[in-house]
Amino acid sequence: MFNKETYINRRKQLRNQFKSGVLLFLGNEESSMNYHDNTYHYRQDSTFLYYFGLDYPGLVGIIDLDEDKDIIFGNDLTIDDVVWMGSQPTIKERSVNAGISNTGQLNEGIDFLKSAKSKTRKIHFLPAYRPEHQIKLYNWLEIPINETNKSASVDLIVAVGEQRNIKSVEEIEQLEQAVSVTTDMHLAAMRFAKPGMTEAQVAAKVYEVALAAGGNISFPIIATINGQTLHNHYHGNTIKEGDLFLLDAGAENSLCYSGDMSSTFPVSAKFTEKQKEIYQIALNGHNAAIEALKPGISFKEIHFTAARTIFNGLKDLGFTKGNTEEAVQAGAHALFFPCGTGHMMGMDVHDMENLGEQYVGYAGEPKSTLFGLKSLRLGRKLEPGHVLTIEPGIYFIPELIDLWKSQNKFTEFINYSKVEEYKNFGGTRNEEDILITEDSYKILGKPLAKSIADVETERAKAFE
Ligand code: GLY
Ligand code: MN
Repeated sequence: MFNKETYINRRKQLRNQFKSGVLLFLGNEESSMNYHDNTYHYRQDSTFLYYFGLDYPGLVGIIDLDEDKDIIFGNDLTIDDVVWMGSQPTIKERSVNAGISNTGQLNEGIDFLKSAKSKTRKIHFLPAYRPEHQIKLYNWLEIPINETNKSASVDLIVAVGEQRNIKSVEEIEQLEQAVSVTTDMHLAAMRFAKPGMTEAQVAAKVYEVALAAGGNISFPIIATINGQTLHNHYHGNTIKEGDLFLLDAGAENSLCYSGDMSSTFPVSAKFTEKQKEIYQIALNGHNAAIEALKPGISFKEIHFTAARTIFNGLKDLGFTKGNTEEAVQAGAHALFFPCGTGHMMGMDVHDMENLGEQYVGYAGEPKSTLFGLKSLRLGRKLEPGHVLTIEPGIYFIPELIDLWKSQNKFTEFINYSKVEEYKNFGGTRNEEDILITEDSYKILGKPLAKSIADVETERAKAFE
């Protein structure tokens, strides 16, 4: 945990955005995997952690604006719990670390909420992403299960989103640490993968680094020779000479701050000429996007910078043609780059995605519905303290190529006969994590090999 003043100040800043009512924060429960007592890795809710810092299941945090009181509710362990789990501090003892002296057992918290509701006090809560929270909101506040998100407080979403979007110095230290572990995960894979291994063996090496650093992974590892599938979690293929390997993996550190990087490397010691050409174009898009970062610029513009660079690079090789600006505005580049250039990152790898991208990433503006642009999670003007990813890529998705070709889509911009030749190429992406500073940007964490020469230097170590 951070020092208790951090949590006291965060809650104070939040409280100042409201006049009256109750702010309700549901901490996460243990989540059962295949029977009740066999649970998934426990992950506290990030907003709960942000304001209360307590990384234990079953807690409820309340900020009572009218009584100027912060309260933690939860059940102390029974003797049976202690027999199985060892002795643990009481809720009261734990809450001191969050600067909170008012605590109660869970039934008292439920009584508090029911009483607030009966007095028609405004109870603000955030959208629920776990079914047990929907059930709590139904049982405690009579919010119908299918209306928990509709009934969530937009005022609270906006206040939390704006506050958490600006990372403090102590948060940036945490993020630097998580990203450095993430770099180590990628370097471990580059120095380890060899033809004949399975994707799962490489994924296990990557996982090992995150666990050994004292944390966990920040999202399921993508370790694949089918990098054209964006969120590919299958690890069953045997990797062979000539394949291109895409790794997208990140660490979550002990305070639950995330890293999120992607790297692409040849399974052979060196890239083929074909791989080099496409890799370099995607990397040029990545570097151009990073170089354009500064406070005040809209991330949509950063996205278009990456898209233009990729479209132009592909034009030099004969994949695309025509006016780049018109092509990118129309979305023709999305045949190769059907997703966004990046997203906010913090405690959640897609930070606060559950609060709604239109609030967190677009400051309330609507998102585009155009194929490609609709997957851009971040479009707002950048401010110092924002932490985001840059991750454009080039993907040859056979089904998408077939579909667009059959529809004669964008024939003025796309040379399908050339694209056909690369249908089995796969995909390539580089991803780094970046802080927007007062006048520029800073790439977080230890550097990761990304030039062709640097990647081949790392790959050589696997073959020593
Ligand atoms: N690294 C996974 C993602 O950004 O979706
Ligand atoms: Mn990412």
